[in-house]
Amino acid sequence: MNDKQLVALQAAKYVKNGMLVGLGTGSTANYFIEELARLQKEEGLKITTVASSTISALKAESLSLPIVALEHIAHIDLYVDGADEIMPDMTLLKGRGSDLVKEKLLAKAATQFIAVADASKLVKRIGQNFAIPIEVIPFAWQLAKRSLEAASGRGELRPNAAKDGLWVTSHGSYVLDMHFDETITARNLHDLISTTPGVVEHGIFYGLTTAVFIADNGIVNERWAQ
Ligand code: A5P
Repeated sequence: MNDKQLVALQAAKYVKNGMLVGLGTGSTANYFIEELARLQKEEGLKITTVASSTISALKAESLSLPIVALEHIAHIDLYVDGADEIMPDMTLLKGRGSDLVKEKLLAKAATQFIAVADASKLVKRIGQNFAIPIEVIPFAWQLAKRSLEAASGRGELRPNAAKDGLWVTSHGSYVLDMHFDETITARNLHDLISTTPGVVEHGIFYGLTTAVFIADNGIVNERWAQ
């Protein structure tokens, strides 16, 4: 069993009968979805799920997990998702994919949000390994970019996979992938980007994580927020 699978299985131990469970997006989240389906089939687990992306919804449906649409929920019990970077204070960077808006809504709506990852995701500062994804309203991208550049931001609109057009998220936004001055704290960066007109959402998940589970060479470490 690889580390991503191991950590996903550990998070699944916190799923109880009757819960409304948020499904993340990505390879680690996929292992979690598969484990929920196994628990439902083999151990009679009774849960309802809500997905952070169409791809995860399709996976859940294919495994016969009961699923409700995001617009029908006001609160969830548990959200389990991967991350692209994880800081010591449990701030995350997410959104390499197309589903940042739903991912942050579910993280905020959850009583408990457990981030699951292998040790390759641990960083000292947000933006260390990846640019910060910033979803912008298409017509506002240039004005938003100008505002962010005034705060040391450097970056470009994300191209699509074929590099013959622009990346469009499942929310219909463009994405600015930006780097910022390393001396700006994650919290200040979060506040700065959040208050920039034209920004729909961004990849810094500050103060949202209840616990971080990291698997490193077959050992899972659970860190819970105080
Ligand atoms: C999706 O938008 C991201 O936030 C993912 O959660 C992230 O990319 C983690 O993916 P893996 O579990 O595949 O590393």
